[in-house]
Parts: sequence; C-alpha cells; structure tokens
Amino acid sequence: MKSRRFHKLVTLLLVCTPLTITALSADDASPEYSRKGADTCIGCHDEQATLDLFHTRHGVPSDPRSPFGRGQLQCEACHGPGGDHAGRVRRGEERPPVIRFGKDSETDVLVQNGKCLGCHEESADFAWHGSGHDDNQVGCADCHQVHNAHDPVRATASQPEVCFDCHQQQHAQSLKPYSHPFDEGKMDCSGCHNPHGTGTTNTLFVRQTLNDTCYECHAEKRGPYLWEHAPVVEDCSSCHEPHGSNNPGMVSLRGPMLCQTCHSQAGHPSIPREADGLADAAPSPYLLARNCLNCHTQVHGSNHPSGSKLMR
Ligand code: HEC
Ligand code: HEC
Ligand code: HEC
Ligand code: HEC
Ligand code: HEC
Ligand code: HEC
Ligand code: HEC
Ligand code: HEC
Ligand code: HEC
Ligand code: HEC
Repeated sequence: MKSRRFHKLVTLLLVCTPLTITALSADDASPEYSRKGADTCIGCHDEQATLDLFHTRHGVPSDPRSPFGRGQLQCEACHGPGGDHAGRVRRGEERPPVIRFGKDSETDVLVQNGKCLGCHEESADFAWHGSGHDDNQVGCADCHQVHNAHDPVRATASQPEVCFDCHQQQHAQSLKPYSHPFDEGKMDCSGCHNPHGTGTTNTLFVRQTLNDTCYECHAEKRGPYLWEHAPVVEDCSSCHEPHGSNNPGMVSLRGPMLCQTCHSQAGHPSIPREADGLADAAPSPYLLARNCLNCHTQVHGSNHPSGSKLMR
C-alpha cells in the first residue's frame, strides 16, 4: 500500500522535476501528521495549481532545507499536521481543517507567518518583527503565492499591483503624469522599500536613510558639492513626491511656489518691484518666466567656484 502511493508521487514528480524524493516514514513525524506525507495529500489534491509547487524552490528534494528535503514534513511543513484532515470523514461531519493561508483564511495570521518564519527568520535581510507589516498583521501569503512558480510579487512588472491592493494612496499617486516608471514594468516598490522590515527605518527603506535610498540610483545627486542646498542634503522628499506627482520632475509644487514654501515671499525673489500696480511697472526680473530655476539652475548643488547662489 505504502509503496503504491509512494510510486504515485514519484511518478507525479517525474512529470514535474527529474528528481525523486524520500517520503516521510512514520517515525519522522508525530502522530498528528499524515503517515505518508505528500503522497497522502496528493491523493486528493492533484490540481495543477497545487502541484506547481514542485516547480518552485520549496519543492526541491535535494535541498535539505526545503519542505521536501529529507526528513522534512513536505506539505505539512506549511499546512501543519494533516493526519485528521486526510482521514476518513463521516457523512454530515466536517473535515478537520489544516492551516490555510491568505486573506480568506480562518487561521490566525501569526500562526500562518510562524510556519514561514520557522525556516526564513534566520535569513540576513529579514527584520520582520516590529515592521509595519508585522504590526498590522499582514501575512506572508498576502504578498507571496508559494504554489505559483512565477510569484507575482517577486517580478518587477507585476509587483506594484500586489502592493496597490492595500496601498491605494500610492496607487493613485503612481497614476499621476510624472512618476517613477512603475507602469512600464521598469521599476518596482522594492527598489526603495524592503517589505520584510529593515530594523532601521520605519518606512522600510532599503538603505539606512531616505536620501541614501535615492542615491542608490541617482548617485550624481549625492555630491559632494562645493555649494550645497541644505534641503537636498537633508531630505529629497522635501521637494519630490517619489510615488508620483502632477508636476514635471515629480516635484510637489510648481514653479516659484515650491521654492517659496521655504524662501520668504517678502524678500528678493517673489514680489514684483512695482507691486502697487502702475501701468508701466516692469515685472520683476526675478519672476520672469515665473520660475526661480531660470536663474538658480543648480538646485541640487553646485561645484562652480562662484556657484554660491546655485546659479551655475
Ligand atoms: C481524502 C481527501 C483529502 C486528503 C487526503 C487531503 N485533503 Fe485537503 N481537503 C480535502 C477536501 C475535500 C477539502 C475541501 C473541503 C474542506 O476544507 O473540508 C480540503 C481542503 C484543503 C485545504 C484548503 C483548501 C481550500 O481551498 O480551502 C488545504 C490547504 C488542504 N486541504 C491541504 C491538505 C494537505 C496538506 C493534505 C495532506 C496532509 C490534505 N489536504 C489531504 C480533502 C483531502
Ligand atoms: C521547511 C522550510 C521552509 C518553510 C516552512 C518555508 N520555506 Fe520558503 N524557502 C525555503 C527554502 C529552503 C527556500 C530556498 C532558499 C534558497 O534557495 O536560498 C525557500 C524559498 C522561499 C522563497 C523564494 C523563492 C524563490 O524562488 O527563490 C520565498 C518567497 C519563500 N520561500 C516564502 C515562503 C513562505 C511565504 C512560506 C510560508 C507560507 C515559506 N517560504 C515556508 C524553506 C522553507
Ligand atoms: C495585505 C495588505 C498589504 C499589502 C499587500 C502590502 N502592504 Fe504595505 N502596509 C500594509 C499595512 C496595513 C501597513 C501599515 C499601515 C500603513 O502605513 O498603511 C503597511 C505599511 C507599509 C509601508 C510603511 C512602512 C511602515 O512601517 O509603516 C510601506 C513602505 C509598505 N507598506 C510597502 C509595501 C510594499 C512595497 C508592498 C508590496 C511589495 C506592500 N506594502 C504590500 C498592508 C499591506
Ligand atoms: C508586503 C509584501 C511582502 C510580505 C508581507 C512578505 N514578503 Fe517576502 N518578498 C516580498 C518581495 C517584494 C520580495 C522580493 C524582494 C526583492 O525583489 O528584492 C520578497 C522576497 C522574499 C524571499 C526571497 C528572498 C530572496 O532574497 O530571494 C523570501 C524567502 C520571502 N520573501 C519570504 C517571506 C516571508 C517568510 C514572509 C512573511 C514573514 C514574507 N516574505 C512576507 C514581499 C513580501
Ligand atoms: C512552503 C509552504 C507550503 C507548502 C510546502 C505547501 N503549501 Fe499549500 N499553500 C501554501 C500557501 C501559502 C497557500 C496559499 C496560496 C498560495 O500561496 O499559492 C497554499 C494553498 C494550498 C491549497 C489551497 C489553494 C487555495 O485555493 O486556497 C491547497 C489545496 C494546498 N495548498 C495544498 C498543498 C499540498 C497538497 C502541498 C504538498 C504537495 C502543499 N500545499 C505544500 C503553502 C504551502
Ligand atoms: C523612489 C523610491 C520609492 C519607490 C520606488 C516607492 N516608494 Fe514608497 N516611499 C518612498 C518615500 C521616500 C516614502 C516616505 C515619504 C513619502 O511618502 O513621501 C515612502 C513611503 C511609503 C509608504 C508610507 C506612507 C506613509 O504615509 O507612511 C507606503 C505605504 C509606500 N511608500 C508604499 C509604496 C508602494 C506600494 C510602492 C510601489 C508602488 C512604493 N512605495 C514605491 C519612496 C519610494
Ligand atoms: C531603483 C532605482 C531608483 C531609486 C532607488 C530611485 N529612483 Fe528616481 N528614478 C529612477 C528611474 C529608473 C527614473 C526614470 C528615469 C528616466 O525615465 O529616464 C527615475 C526618475 C526620477 C526623477 C525624475 C523624474 C522626471 O520626470 O524627470 C526624480 C525626481 C526621481 N527619480 C527622484 C527620486 C527620489 C527622490 C528617490 C528617493 C526617494 C529616487 N528617485 C530613488 C530610479 C530610481
Ligand atoms: C529644493 C527642492 C529639491 C530637493 C530637496 C531635491 N530636488 Fe530634485 N529636483 C528639484 C527640481 C525643482 C527639479 C527640476 C524639476 C523640473 O524638471 O522642472 C528636480 C529634478 C530632479 C531630477 C530629474 C532631473 C535631474 O536633475 O536629474 C532628479 C533625478 C532629482 N531631482 C533627484 C533628486 C534627489 C535624489 C534628491 C535628494 C538627494 C533631490 N532631487 C532633492 C528640486 C529638488
Ligand atoms: C525645504 C526648504 C527649502 C526649499 C523647498 C527650497 N530651499 Fe533653497 N534653501 C533652503 C535652505 C535652508 C537654504 C540655506 C540657507 C542658508 O544657508 O542661509 C537654502 C539656500 C538656497 C540658496 C542659496 C542661498 C545662499 O545665500 O547661498 C538658493 C539660491 C536657494 N536656496 C534657491 C532655492 C530654489 C530656487 C528653490 C526652489 C527650487 C529652493 N531654494 C527651495 C531651504 C529650501
Ligand atoms: C532673474 C534671475 C533670478 C530669478 C528668476 C530668481 N533669482 Fe534668486 N537670486 C538671483 C541673484 C542674481 C541672486 C544673488 C543676489 C545677490 O547676491 O545679492 C539671487 C539670490 C537668491 C537667494 C540668496 C539670498 C539672497 O536673497 O541673496 C535666494 C534664497 C534666492 N535667490 C531664491 C530665489 C527664489 C526662491 C526664486 C523664485 C521665487 C528666485 N530666487 C528667482 C537671481 C534670480
């Protein structure tokens, strides 16, 4: 009996991967686990979507760390003990459940995530506990599809959709006329954010600070500059909206208004000299073309010996 079922799994696996696996023996697991591991499960769950797991890193029998590695619990490494679930169910009785994953699951998220973290917590870039996602009980399976050989959240082109499911505000921003190229599949959220937590910033930046994150791809903005512009050194997002904006260059406000959020309207640049409006009053040269950038072109900093006013 055992060897017949085992044979069946091997056959299935041969279709999927050219490897054989060692099924669990009864001694490897406590009694609540099914006696024949995946062979038992696959007896009923033989949908292609389920079996696709064998095309992923989790279905690699030769990797001792994987759920299908020697001595591991196979399907039950994630779904928990399934002995009762797999057993016979009398008419009118409910089949005892196993751990289910994802939004509609009745299993507590902490239990779901605990299964995954049991193997993944040690990994170097994981600081899950205390991250915004952990605190808000987001499940690993809210983002990941582990039975899918092409997990959408791990591909640049399909990742933003997964995130937008919950992050509507960033979705709306990304649809504005000027944004990082999310649509074109050239950029994803994990270019700037590590969704697993970083332990250092509360916005999940991939680098220590916001600016360091931007410098990853916009290295030329790091300087050093002979003449720095203070807000640039401090925080790129004091002028830019990284998820998208209605203004060219993804700036938060247009023209002089952007600069005037910090630079007084009363002083040099902003007020036309003949403000009381006589007909022949010349418009302020500082507002010609209505943009401070016409003169102060080097808004990110200047290396010109006489660039102190960021004009060259
Ligand atoms: C005798 C047939 C049978 C066996 C063996 C069996 N299951 Fe199931 N399983 C079912 C049925 C029927 C359902 C759906 C109805 C229910 O949940 O009562 C189900 C539901 C599930 C679900 C939830 C799926 C969903 O769509 O909600 C998971 C996950 C699952 N089984 C995993 C397993 C695992 C892991 C094993 C092996 C330990 C296993 N099953 C063995 C019959 C079986
Ligand atoms: C029994 C241990 C084990 C469990 C349980 C486990 N994983 Fe894994 N996982 C692995 C191993 C081993 C790899 C391959 C890692 C490698 O090659 O470096 C992996 C790889 C991954 C990958 C990367 C896949 C790829 O193609 O590179 C993701 C994503 C992942 N696991 C998510 C999860 C999630 C989500 C859960 C819970 C539902 C989970 N894992 C449960 C051991 C496990
Ligand atoms: C299942 C819903 C869900 C999904 C999917 C999701 N998030 Fe979140 N995310 C949240 C919740 C809830 C919070 C905490 C409250 C908030 O800030 O909105 C959060 C917070 C964040 C934060 C702020 C950091 C913090 O610590 O508060 C960032 C950045 C973030 N998510 C990025 C992402 C990225 C990138 C993805 C896709 C890879 C993603 N999220 C997918 C629910 C989700
Ligand atoms: C908010 C969405 C989100 C959540 C929640 C999430 N992940 Fe991920 N995960 C990602 C993204 C995005 C990547 C790809 C990262 C990249 O491209 O650098 C990833 C990659 C991975 C990888 C592969 C790492 C590698 O270096 O290749 C593993 C393993 C993994 N996740 C496990 C988990 C586990 C375990 C949990 C739950 C504790 C979890 N993830 C929760 C979005 C998420
Ligand atoms: C690495 C952890 C892991 C392993 C191993 C695993 N599953 Fe799953 N399973 C999940 C997660 C997470 C989901 C939720 C859907 C998804 O991520 O693709 C799921 C979903 C399912 C579903 C239900 C699909 C649905 O619509 O809800 C069934 C049935 C299932 N698994 C059966 C199995 C069987 C049978 C095996 C062994 C051959 C197995 N699983 C191995 C993590 C795992
Ligand atoms: C170019 C870098 C960059 C990319 C790419 C990026 N973000 Fe952000 N994200 C930021 C910065 C900077 C902040 C903090 C300041 C802000 O919101 O302006 C932030 C903040 C967030 C927050 C927290 C907002 C809050 O109010 O606390 C969420 C949620 C978020 N991002 C989700 C996403 C999602 C989803 C994607 C993918 C579509 C994404 N981000 C892509 C840079 C980025
Ligand atoms: C993962 C790489 C990456 C990171 C990190 C990154 N960017 Fe970008 N950025 C891009 C790409 C790609 C473009 C589009 C370039 C193009 O279309 O020529 C871009 C374009 C821009 C533009 C110009 C938009 C325009 O219309 O000309 C601004 C402004 C910008 N990024 C600001 C930021 C800020 C601020 C940060 C940090 C919060 C940041 N970027 C982080 C990749 C990145
Ligand atoms: C004082 C406001 C301000 C700050 C702070 C700022 N920028 Fe800008 N940035 C601008 C303006 C204004 C433009 C030009 C917009 C336009 O095209 O009209 C611009 C354009 C850009 C561009 C596209 C054109 C180019 O020069 O490459 C990138 C990329 C960029 N900024 C990145 C950054 C990064 C990275 C930081 C942080 C290190 C930063 N900016 C901080 C105001 C600012
Ligand atoms: C977030 C606030 C902020 C914004 C927005 C801002 N600046 Fe500044 N700017 C400063 C600060 C702070 C200094 C340094 C003042 C000092 O050192 O006395 C400065 C310095 C300058 C200087 C050099 C002054 C000097 O005496 O050397 C110029 C020119 C300048 N900014 C132009 C602009 C322009 C043009 C814009 C719009 C694109 C702009 N700033 C937007 C805060 C800002
Ligand atoms: C027609 C060119 C021109 C335009 C347009 C212009 N500036 Fe200036 N700006 C100058 C010159 C020239 C100086 C140097 C004045 C000096 O050294 O006395 C200067 C100096 C400054 C300074 C340094 C402090 C000071 O008053 O000496 C700041 C800050 C500044 N401009 C901000 C702005 C802002 C904000 C705007 C847009 C509202 C703007 N400028 C538009 C030419 C211009």
